Amino acid sequence: MQVFDSINTFRTDLDAGRAGGASVGFVPTMGYLHAGHITLVQRAAAECDIVVVSIFVNPLQFAANEDLASYPRDLDRDLELVAGAGATHVFAPSVSEMYPTEVLTTVRVAELSDPMEGAARPTHFAGVATVVAKLFSVVGPCRAYFGEKDFQQLAVVRRMAADLSMPVEVVGCPTVREPDGLAMSSRNVYLDGDQRLAALVIHRALQAGAAAIVAGERSGTQVRNLMAGIISAEPTAVLDYVEVADPDTLAPVDDLAAGQELRLLAAAQVGRPRLLDNIGVTVPSES
Ligand code: PAJ
Repeated sequence: MQVFDSINTFRTDLDAGRAGGASVGFVPTMGYLHAGHITLVQRAAAECDIVVVSIFVNPLQFAANEDLASYPRDLDRDLELVAGAGATHVFAPSVSEMYPTEVLTTVRVAELSDPMEGAARPTHFAGVATVVAKLFSVVGPCRAYFGEKDFQQLAVVRRMAADLSMPVEVVGCPTVREPDGLAMSSRNVYLDGDQRLAALVIHRALQAGAAAIVAGERSGTQVRNLMAGIISAEPTAVLDYVEVADPDTLAPVDDLAAGQELRLLAAAQVGRPRLLDNIGVTVPSES
C-alpha cells in the first residue's frame, strides 16, 4: 500500500494504473476509522483493482462552532486498518495541499441539502459536496463507496454526480452497528458510559417507527410523533429531528401507501456529539 500527500504525485501514479486497464474504487473518509469504514474498503477491494482511501478532515464542512480542531485523528492506526482491508493507495493530504488558496468555487446541491442535517448545519453539505467533487477530480474513480449511515450525504453526493455527469458510480453501503444497535461513528468516542447507553434511544425510536408502519400505521405525522416521543423521553438526549421521508428526494411523506419505500431518519445531541441514524422500511400491502 502506498501513501500519498501530494495531488500531483498521486495522480501520476493512478494514471499509470488506469492506463494498464485497472479499475479504481474510492472510499473517502475523515479518518479515525472503525468497522463501518472498513466494510466500505472491503467492498471496494472486492469490486475494483485499485482501492483508494482518502483520509482528510475537511475544514470546509465544519462550521466555526463545530469540532474541527478536536475531531479524533490517528493516522498510523488508520493506515494499518485500511492495509488489512485491501486498500492499495491512501491519499492523506494536508489542508494546504487541498486548499492552497481561498476556495472560491463550491458545489451546492439545492433542496437535498436544506432539511434535517442542512437545517442544523447550513454550510455543511456545500463543504461535503465541494470536497467530494475535488476528490473525485483527483482520484478519477470508477466507483465510489459511501455509507447509508449518512443517508442525506449519500443522497447529496449521488445527485451531484448525476447533475454534473461525473463518470463515477456512487455505491451506497449498509450501516454497520455495534452489537446493541448503536450505529458506528467516529464521534462515538466522545460518549461516556451513561451517554453511550442513552445514545441507543435513537435506533430504538427508528425501530419503533418502522414497527408501527409494519403494524398498519399510515400517517407520517403519527410515526414522527411516536419517534420524537421516544427520544424526548430520554433525559440525556436532546432531540434535533425525526423524519419519515422519500429515500430519493428526502421529502417528508405524510400519507403512507402500500408498497412504498421509506427512510426513517433521526438526529439527537447526546452529551457532546450530535448523533445520526436512519433505517429503511417498506409499507406492507394491506392484508
Ligand atoms: P466519515 O464520517 O469519515 O465517513 C466516511 C464514510 O464512512 C461515509 O461514507 C460514511 O457514511 C461511512 N460510514 C460512517 N459510519 C458508518 C457506519 N457505521 N456504517 C457504514 N458506513 C459508515 O462522511 C464523511 O467522513 C465525510 O463527510 C466525507 C464524505 C469523507 C467528506 O469529507
